[in-house]
Amino acid sequence: QTLEMALESIEKGGYEHFMLKEIFEQPRSILDSMRGRMIADSDHLMMSGIREYENKFAKAKRIIIVACGTSWHAGLVAEYLIEDFARIPVEVEYASEFRYRNPIITEKDIVIAISQSGETADTLAAIELAKSKGATIFGICNVVGSSIARATDAGAYTHAGPEIGVASTKAFTAQVTVLTLIAMIIGKKRGTLEETKLRQLMVELETIPAKVEQCLQLDDQIKTIAAKYKDATNFIYLGRGYNYPVALEGALKLKEISYIHAEGYPAAEMKHGPIALIDEQMPVVVIATKDSSYEKVVSNVQEVRARKGKVIAVVTEGDTTIPSMADYVIEIPETSEHLMPLLSVIPLQLLSYHIAVMRGCNVDQPRNLAKSVTVE
Ligand code: G6P
Repeated sequence: QTLEMALESIEKGGYEHFMLKEIFEQPRSILDSMRGRMIADSDHLMMSGIREYENKFAKAKRIIIVACGTSWHAGLVAEYLIEDFARIPVEVEYASEFRYRNPIITEKDIVIAISQSGETADTLAAIELAKSKGATIFGICNVVGSSIARATDAGAYTHAGPEIGVASTKAFTAQVTVLTLIAMIIGKKRGTLEETKLRQLMVELETIPAKVEQCLQLDDQIKTIAAKYKDATNFIYLGRGYNYPVALEGALKLKEISYIHAEGYPAAEMKHGPIALIDEQMPVVVIATKDSSYEKVVSNVQEVRARKGKVIAVVTEGDTTIPSMADYVIEIPETSEHLMPLLSVIPLQLLSYHIAVMRGCNVDQPRNLAKSVTVE
């Protein structure tokens, strides 16, 4: 027992929990997920797993993404990326719904299955179904040699390294990194992504690990916010555009490990329901970075304020508008809106982590949850 405990503490590398270690590993795991695949300086953009299928991707009539949990959120980010860069229609499906609902799948479709463990039963079954209809299956897995990695026609690994904490963190950012590269590769091939824009994106993507490092320096500030709201019974997370999936992911993280009820919503949908929940007891986390929907998010923040909700805003460095309206402001570095999820998710991971620790929860092994769900 003591030996086991000693080993575990070595594996945690000085961190109190695996989850915290994995959050802090993200500059590295993101870099590892793009290493060898992209070098902005020399215009190098290539993924061996996709090379043989580049034409197929370029000609695809439709891309269907299947996944569960956090991987499904990465899929939502990919929908925005692929439609933006490659102009191919994308559908993102919960694997568990897809497999049982008699979906329309043809040989012209490409199915991208996203799974950290590569063992999720529903995702595997969705793949088998799509395969039986003749679709091409592309896998994005973290665990090498896993069932899903073996069941797919081709794929790309996320090089996040082993993820032990049940709540997924570094696997998510690695998935988004790989999906960004894929969207760029298909966009380039199809000619839908302008050369100069592609160039800018590549240069910007290379700066992401350093910017994630900057986000991690917000840890102490986020701990203060966590202390303030740790006893809340409900949370709302809002975001628009690329930050909408991040709002869902932030809420999921909080639910998973702190057992606080949290809802993630596209900010504009708030008025169709969740706004009824807002009062002075309700913390509302708003991701309000400078992007094409910024002005709209500002009015959503005003709507929350008008109902006395507490606003915790994640903003772009130097923003002066939102800070005058929010109770707490978390400033993150500027980047292209297409890459923002890789940064904006970091403070939300830290917030859920600190709240869970302060509530005395078992962060690495939350109740009722499993790291890989091999039953349906
Ligand atoms: C479980 C895990 C989640 C994960 C989901 C999908 O619910 O607790 O963290 O996002 O399964 O897992 P996968 O391995 O397919 O990404």
